[in-house]
Amino acid sequence: MAKPLNIGMIGYGFMGRAHSNAYCKVSNFFDLEYEPVLKAACARNEENIKAFADNWGYESVETDWRKLVARDDIDAVDICVPNNLHKEMAIECAKQGKAILCEKPIAMDVAEGEEMCKAVEDAGVANMVWYNYRRVPAVTMAKQLIDEGRLGRIFHYRANFLQDWTIADDLPQGGAALWRLDAAAAGSGVTGDLLAHCIDTAIWLNGGISDVTAMTETFIKERTHSLTGKKQPVLIDDACTFMCHFENGSLGLFESTRYARGHKALYTLEINGENASIKWDLHDLHRLEYFDHSDEGKMRGWRSIHVTDHGGEHPYMDKWWVPGLQIGYEHSFVHQVADFLAGYAQGEAVSPTFRDALETQRVCDAVLQSAESKQWENV
Ligand SMILES: NC(=O)c1ccc[n+]([C@@H]2O[C@H](COP(=O)([O-])OP(=O)(O)OC[C@H]3O[C@@H](n4cnc5c(N)ncnc54)[C@H](O)[C@@H]3O)[C@@H](O)[C@H]2O)c1
Repeated sequence: MAKPLNIGMIGYGFMGRAHSNAYCKVSNFFDLEYEPVLKAACARNEENIKAFADNWGYESVETDWRKLVARDDIDAVDICVPNNLHKEMAIECAKQGKAILCEKPIAMDVAEGEEMCKAVEDAGVANMVWYNYRRVPAVTMAKQLIDEGRLGRIFHYRANFLQDWTIADDLPQGGAALWRLDAAAAGSGVTGDLLAHCIDTAIWLNGGISDVTAMTETFIKERTHSLTGKKQPVLIDDACTFMCHFENGSLGLFESTRYARGHKALYTLEINGENASIKWDLHDLHRLEYFDHSDEGKMRGWRSIHVTDHGGEHPYMDKWWVPGLQIGYEHSFVHQVADFLAGYAQGEAVSPTFRDALETQRVCDAVLQSAESKQWENV
């Protein structure tokens, strides 16, 4: 019988739901020593958090996150709230000896991230940040192919994360629904929200980033703030493009915007190596495009690999349906919980840890700094 790991969830929005779904499913599909138990959920509005708790099967609710974190019956806290709250909550969790699963970006900036790393490392608590795209099977497989040396020397890494939901100039900023547009809650715009995912995947697949040059733009300069009712300057980046050098000598090109009309969540990446190239697209997330230059000349071309094989060949897929049947976005969270629980049982760190996520934060900060200075900035 699996041992319980009592979860305290803070936040009931997009990620609160995505993670709760993962906790509910993981033990049905993965054979693990620990089983998550939905012990308590927390948010400020009692009616809303009770409805959320009822829907997902949480045993109890709290309206003060400090009470949740202090509870003896909570083993692990999941931080699913806007970015400006991550640091305070994570440090308190570390003080209380709780394992921590924190949403990305780890913090508002590197200074906060460093404090958080110190807190979890001093306390010796398990910690992980939800850069979930690593656990999309096709992306995990890209990592395997690169680590097997199939691409050879890598020359280029290219990634985009494109959306179009903030084009309207009468969209307000701030408050519960639109905190992403308010720099005081989000820290940055697309850099911390979207590029952070691209950067995490890139570092994982292709190694460290040494220096960056970036441009950002804020297309709509003022928006009414939902909390004050007043027009206020928009201080986040609406769009960001940056180039970088990786430590392995390859060149990187990254673009993110919320102004690409027609694109909702187009995360794509491409890696070009000496022997082979890889492409992946979130909208077709179970496929890995692969070009192998060693193929016989007349048959050479891009292969579209449906990463759904069952025989243990494709990562995570032996846990799901029969070969050829695909899975989706939510499964990346199930995989991340499964890996976390497996590491927890062994007392092993599971990547991305806070320290790994701090590396991504360093790149984000350097990108924003470069956009400001109009110079290359070291990471
Ligand atoms: N991994 C991913 O792909 C991914 C996707 C979306 C969001 N995120 C990250 O997840 C975090 C949350 O984003 P979201 O989209 O779920 O936001 P959301 O707006 O949908 O939900 C935020 C939640 O935080 C709660 N909250 C706010 N202040 C609180 C407080 N003081 N005490 C308790 N609860 C409080 C709100 O009630 C709400 O339930 C952010 O850090 C974001 O960057 C990650």
